[in-house]
Amino acid sequence: MSESLVLTDTQGRVGLITLNRPKALNALNDALMDELGAALLAFDANEDIGAIVITGSEKAFAAGADIGAMKDWTYMDVFGADYITRNWETIRKVRKPVIGAVAGYALGGGCELAMMCDILIAADTAKFGQPEIKIGILPGAGGTQRLPRAVGKAKAMDLVLTARMMDAAEAERAGLVSRVVPADKLMEEAMDAATVIASMSLPAVMMAKEAVNRAYEAPLNDGLLFERRMFHSLFGTHDQKEGMTAFMEKRKPEFRNK
Ligand code: CAA
Repeated sequence: MSESLVLTDTQGRVGLITLNRPKALNALNDALMDELGAALLAFDANEDIGAIVITGSEKAFAAGADIGAMKDWTYMDVFGADYITRNWETIRKVRKPVIGAVAGYALGGGCELAMMCDILIAADTAKFGQPEIKIGILPGAGGTQRLPRAVGKAKAMDLVLTARMMDAAEAERAGLVSRVVPADKLMEEAMDAATVIASMSLPAVMMAKEAVNRAYEAPLNDGLLFERRMFHSLFGTHDQKEGMTAFMEKRKPEFRNK
């Protein structure tokens, strides 16, 4: 039997997904994307999990979509089968927070997958880029849309048109990543952040994720109204009562995720 292209593990309330095609620098072929989608949905549905971490290898988070697989595809192979939509966007259905822990290359589809995560923690070895232009295509999994939203048009155009890579320090300055840490601390930092998130009230966490995402998808007034209604609705939860009572009583809250 061939080895899984995606490995899963749990640590407390954190689900860990490791992309496992190291010899091909985790090039993202259909089988890998199918397995990744299944692993994400399984953790999302598991009530013992409160946050998810996706990582790759030391050398590569992922070096992009699988060029060898795509090389001979025709227009109808990609348009007809709705390549990208068919299995790249499962991560967008995930309602629990997803942290991307990136070491080494995050290029092309690898950078795009990283940008679909809610929080990005980078090792100081991380390199981000959208080099598709070098092989005669353009980013197809959100690179031309999410990168400018994250780093602005100036840097996005630079990366997309010249194919140059951005190191971790530049990515942090530009606002693409949340934190940069020494490579040997990457997993500890990512798992700790996920553990903190998973210790919070799950409905509050899920609504906060939805509300922040609204900032990218809706005009300000709609986003503000959405946020306010989410805020109001949390007053119907046990965990709001418990969180505020525990604060007043100077003790740790015992959330029940409802
Ligand atoms: N697809 C398929 N195989 C890949 C790959 C990819 N995207 N990236 C790396 N590999 C394979 C290489 O073919 C090589 O395989 P072999 O050992 O069998 O020859 C192996 O991984 C190691 O790669 P290199 O020998 O090239 O390693 P390197 O250290 O010299 O270079 C690199 C590393 C700069 C990342 C280089 O591999 C590279 O440029 N990769 C391609 C990056 C790229 O163009 N990504 C965009 C893909 S298109 C896309 O993602 C479309 C989209 O928007 C969805």
